[in-house]
Amino acid sequence: MPRFPIPLPHAVPLYLAPMAGVSESPFRQLCRQYGADVVVTEFLSAEGIRRENEATLNKLRFGPQERPIGVQIFGSDPAAMADAAALVTDVFQPDFVDINFGCPVKKVVKRNGGSGCLRDLGLVQEIIRAVSRATHLPVTCKVRSGWSEEMRDPVTIGLRCQDAGAKVLTLHPRTRTQMYTGSARWEEIAAVVEALDIPVLGNGDIKSAPDALRMLRQTKAAGIMIARGSFGQPWIFDQARDLFDGRPMRATPGVAERFRIALDHARLVESYEADPQGAAVEFRKHLGWYVKGLPNSGDLRRQLHAVNTFGEIEAIFDAYLQGPWGEAALAGVAAESLDADVAA
Ligand SMILES: Cc1cc2nc3c(=O)[nH]c(=O)nc-3n(C[C@H](O)[C@H](O)[C@H](O)COP(=O)(O)O)c2cc1C
Repeated sequence: MPRFPIPLPHAVPLYLAPMAGVSESPFRQLCRQYGADVVVTEFLSAEGIRRENEATLNKLRFGPQERPIGVQIFGSDPAAMADAAALVTDVFQPDFVDINFGCPVKKVVKRNGGSGCLRDLGLVQEIIRAVSRATHLPVTCKVRSGWSEEMRDPVTIGLRCQDAGAKVLTLHPRTRTQMYTGSARWEEIAAVVEALDIPVLGNGDIKSAPDALRMLRQTKAAGIMIARGSFGQPWIFDQARDLFDGRPMRATPGVAERFRIALDHARLVESYEADPQGAAVEFRKHLGWYVKGLPNSGDLRRQLHAVNTFGEIEAIFDAYLQGPWGEAALAGVAAESLDADVAA
């Protein structure tokens, strides 16, 4: 079994994925409370870090309760990446530095950042080596399966990352051209797990805890990374842990419990952000995710998408619970929590 470069509480760790605008400090704290073993910051520009851009440095803040935590950086200039890694190591002291070779966004790839690097594996290796020289922390990488269908070759990409010094590799088995379309090819994760000596994390299309168990069984990955599957359901990590440990999966929280967790999340954001009104508006997307699938959720979502302050949220939840839909939801969500299609 390949060894992780940092001590972890479980042999098969569950990671909260790096996600711009989502895997911020409050959500990372919440996911740690609900069973994520490791969290990663959203991707941060090496140039922004090097130039000590205030907004970028602000996103590097984290608390001790978030550890173990990785800081993810992106860029195509090995020197800038090395400078950024050195600054992050000295000033913020995370547990590892992750390099983003997966971001498909045009603004990033046109300067060869993110998955743009995958067109030039020599550059990928140069970046990993430069970053590894600049920090004593473990350097890990997150990659896609290739730039395009023609260049699809996750095993070669993984081997080149390992050869350059990556200590853990995460594969999201889609190409850049695919963006988020099609499905993640879990068989590519299995092939990379087989080919590499370092731990390989599987990522892509885990929507529920049973999906996480299925990925683990199909790929034999050393760990599992969850991104969109955590939206509005941070408890997915605890549920996945139950299944990994062979226990019956704990029930999905009922509607009142979901609202309580959403309010806890809101309080964490409120106490973390300097601009509470801006933060409340930003928080609307999480509220939409928390109420997804509830009876009459369209109406509820419309109300929640109009909030301008954190104070408005609780009243909307209370009115819902006391209204006709609340009763239906209380019955419905309880039934939904029997969804443990685990045996497969
Ligand atoms: C809103 C959003 C933001 C993301 N930001 C990042 C990022 O900053 N760095 C990164 O490596 N991947 C990022 N990703 C990709 C995810 O980490 C993950 O690889 C991808 O969503 C597939 O996993 P999933 O099917 O579990 O969502 C982002 C994805 C989403 C949906």
